[in-house]
Amino acid sequence: VAAYDNLNRLTSNKLGAVVVGIDYRLAPQYQFPAALEDCVHVIKFFLQDKVLAKYRVDPSRICIMGDSSGGTLAATVTQLLRNDPEFKNRIKAQALLYPGLQMIDTFLPSHREYGQGPILHREMMLRVASLYVTKDSSLTQALLRNEHMPEGSRHLFKFVNWSDFLPEKYKKNHVYTEPVLGKLNASYPALMDSRLFPLLVNDSQLQNLPLTYIFTCEHDLLRDDSFIYITRLRNVGVRVIHEHMEEGVHGAISFTTGTLALHLGFKIRDRYIHWLEENL
Ligand SMILES: *[C@@H]1O[C@H](CO)[C@@H](O)[C@H](O)[C@H]1NC(C)=O
Ligand SMILES: *[C@@H]1O[C@H](CO)[C@@H](O)[C@H](O)[C@H]1NC(C)=O
Ligand SMILES: *[C@@H]1O[C@H](CO)[C@@H](O)[C@H](O)[C@H]1NC(C)=O
Repeated sequence: VAAYDNLNRLTSNKLGAVVVGIDYRLAPQYQFPAALEDCVHVIKFFLQDKVLAKYRVDPSRICIMGDSSGGTLAATVTQLLRNDPEFKNRIKAQALLYPGLQMIDTFLPSHREYGQGPILHREMMLRVASLYVTKDSSLTQALLRNEHMPEGSRHLFKFVNWSDFLPEKYKKNHVYTEPVLGKLNASYPALMDSRLFPLLVNDSQLQNLPLTYIFTCEHDLLRDDSFIYITRLRNVGVRVIHEHMEEGVHGAISFTTGTLALHLGFKIRDRYIHWLEENL
């Protein structure tokens, strides 16, 4: 995609860094975990000493980055590598721009407030997310009702309980309601798999994570995924730098048309690259 190619080139030029963009397989043609496997394979290949040396990369200054669903993959890969003895010291930082981090609870305050957009609509987002798991549209329907989680998955709810993890300011008058279990006849084990969504891991798997940069936009139904992740990471002692843009909308870094949208995109891009300059 041209927008990402531009971002990658700019990052490379500004930082004098090697940037590897991964052209992973996409759903619905390729379902979970194809995209993740592609990312893991490419990154593990690149992290070999001889490959790093060939591209003259400093092995102590490697960052994994992604936005939106790419942020989901970036966060998941970072978790997998950090919990892999061979790669655990290989990643200096992760940078996540408005990532999707869970699908256990599809009725977080940000889903309620920004379900009609801008940009990302709840129905569209859930349809696209469910296509990564199955072509059966009954999953989308169940997701919309927040009745998709299977029996035996209630122990996962505490990992995404916004009533515990969302800053007070964002709770407003919203009342926590638990997702409803066991309404979906078909069974999708992926929904309980932390390789699908990084918020499904327990605290001991979070505490090894590297320096984390998270950029959130206010006008984004995925906003609270990040807020929950930030609280959970900080609770276990991971250093998190959080930038929140009040006027921000989901996906803005890849906007390529419209004066206002471009302006937003440039602002996010510049803040992110500035952070890399200072921290990588
Ligand atoms: C969610 O958090 C609230 C507040 O701490 C608590 O009362 C409730 O039992 C929690 N629910 C689940 C399923 O974790
Ligand atoms: C689940 O299966 C039951 C029994 O076969 C059926 O009555 C019900 O309509 C099904 N529910 C859904 C959501 O498909
Ligand atoms: C956390 O999850 C890992 C992997 O599923 C498991 O091995 C470990 O026992 C869990 N730790 C706790 C404290 O539950």
